[in-house]
Amino acid sequence: MILAETILDLRQAVRVVRAAGETIGLVPTMGALHAGHTSLIDAAAGECDFVVVTIFVNPIQFAPTEDFADYPRAPVADLALCEQHGAAAIFAPGVEEMFPRQNETSVSVAHLSEKLCGRSRPGHFTGVCTVVAKLFNLVQPDRAYFGAKDYQQAVILRRMAEDLNFPVEVVTCPIVREPDGLAISSRNAYLTQEQRLQAPALYAALRHAQAWVRRETPAAAEVIQAIRADLAEHAPLGEVDYVQLVDPETLEDVETTDRPVVTALAVRFGKARLIDNLRIEP
Ligand code: PAJ
Repeated sequence: MILAETILDLRQAVRVVRAAGETIGLVPTMGALHAGHTSLIDAAAGECDFVVVTIFVNPIQFAPTEDFADYPRAPVADLALCEQHGAAAIFAPGVEEMFPRQNETSVSVAHLSEKLCGRSRPGHFTGVCTVVAKLFNLVQPDRAYFGAKDYQQAVILRRMAEDLNFPVEVVTCPIVREPDGLAISSRNAYLTQEQRLQAPALYAALRHAQAWVRRETPAAAEVIQAIRADLAEHAPLGEVDYVQLVDPETLEDVETTDRPVVTALAVRFGKARLIDNLRIEP
């Protein structure tokens, strides 16, 4: 496995692979890898000849009040996991390498970035798009893999690739969960024991909503109310940021559930802001 810390080394490795006619899969991450990340590496390794995992805690997607400085970092364990799951190269640049000076150029996907998480994290998706656009240019992958856990992010990045004609297929992989249903996330480490016990209520509320929609196709507003009530009862330590039923492509709020919708929510438990979502078909 190649470990590249500079753009020069990365480009050299990629050039050799391209010249040999091999396909390249890209898995962008911020490290502290867990089973959600490794599922993306597995998917990429199953479909591409050469898998590049990038590990970069991207400062420009964190607001000044957010957890950039304390974001979990585990470089040694990450390398071992990448190797075990069949990555051919890791690109782990320092901040100086990716952003040697104030970034004057950014990429925004306008409307999609203002919805859902964008409301409470202004500028976040511009930071994500800008760094992923750079990674697309550096690696020039045939396919890039993202998790449905960050559903909005995946929709936005697919739109960015289409709008800017990046010759890459954006692949979205299913959410990997703990046995009790909690979506795996690096930020779960911030939960206290008590909060951790309540956190599975997010997915449970989504599943209850799904069962109800399948039975009775209630109005979206009723579903939102029911999810909020569920969370108030089973996750009283959580502070709901949003619960929304949206169109899977446009992320616009929907009013009815007689069509496919994505039910998405964000709940704060102290320092941890947890997100989850479930696609619901009538
Ligand atoms: P990070 O949070 O490290 O996540 C990297 C990728 O892993 C994302 O595509 C995310 O959706 C996916 N992922 C995380 N938890 C998952 C789970 N439980 N199941 C399935 N996939 C999961 O997302 C980012 O980093 C950054 O914004 C990045 C795209 C790397 C840009 O900096």
